[in-house]
Amino acid sequence: MKIIQVPDYEEMSKRAAEFLLKKIKQNPILTLGLATGSTPKGLYEQLILDRRKHGTSFQHVTTINLDEYIGLPASNPNSYHSFMTENLFRHLDIPLSNSYLPNGEAADLQKECARYESIIDEKGIDVQVLGIGQNGHIGFNEPGTSFNQTTHITTLAHSTRQVNARFFHSIEDVPKQAITMGIASIMKSSEILLLASGTKKAAAVHQLLSGEISEDFPASALHHHPHVTIIADDEALSIF
Ligand code: GLP
Repeated sequence: MKIIQVPDYEEMSKRAAEFLLKKIKQNPILTLGLATGSTPKGLYEQLILDRRKHGTSFQHVTTINLDEYIGLPASNPNSYHSFMTENLFRHLDIPLSNSYLPNGEAADLQKECARYESIIDEKGIDVQVLGIGQNGHIGFNEPGTSFNQTTHITTLAHSTRQVNARFFHSIEDVPKQAITMGIASIMKSSEILLLASGTKKAAAVHQLLSGEISEDFPASALHHHPHVTIIADDEALSIF
């Protein structure tokens, strides 16, 4: 694991954008695994800025997102479809047909999981961007998830619903389930870029860096991956 320490959120976002833009320059047909949440928002802003300033094209880039809530229409402002459209896709020139998210409204959700995993296998993710939950979740792989799971239906931990309630009217409105890439799906990526910012993430980052590997702390699976870079700010790295 390579750890890059930066002073703050802005620097984390800039370094992460530089990291991805370099990869895209080397390989314009890159497949990016993308994440939602407050963490990658600044990274997406930097990518948009780069396109505006330098005209960087993402025309041949494919994106595959980690997860989506079950039961929220894609048009709901809190769906991850909406998040990605608003915060990234509508500002770049990635063809819509090259961007994949799980369909949380599929009639047959099991079938949807299998379909999604086959997309991951077919495209192959070159770089997977990850945030980290306060309980160590990656994607929506909550503590206790088997490291062998591929894309699956997951029940969100109460603590995750509490944390994510800030985007909804109340916790009752936060969906109870989601479709998420599994740990095994994430581990198929050639390379992983994990971002962490703020004191709220310090305990999780500390636990991750302790090196202890356990299904009770999903992000610890990343110790089994040969090519992980963590960009974290001073606050996220404040527990030693
Ligand atoms: C969410 C997402 C994760 C994300 C994490 C942290 O529940 N499913 O992909 O990494 O929680 O979110 P944030 O970046 O807002 O702290």
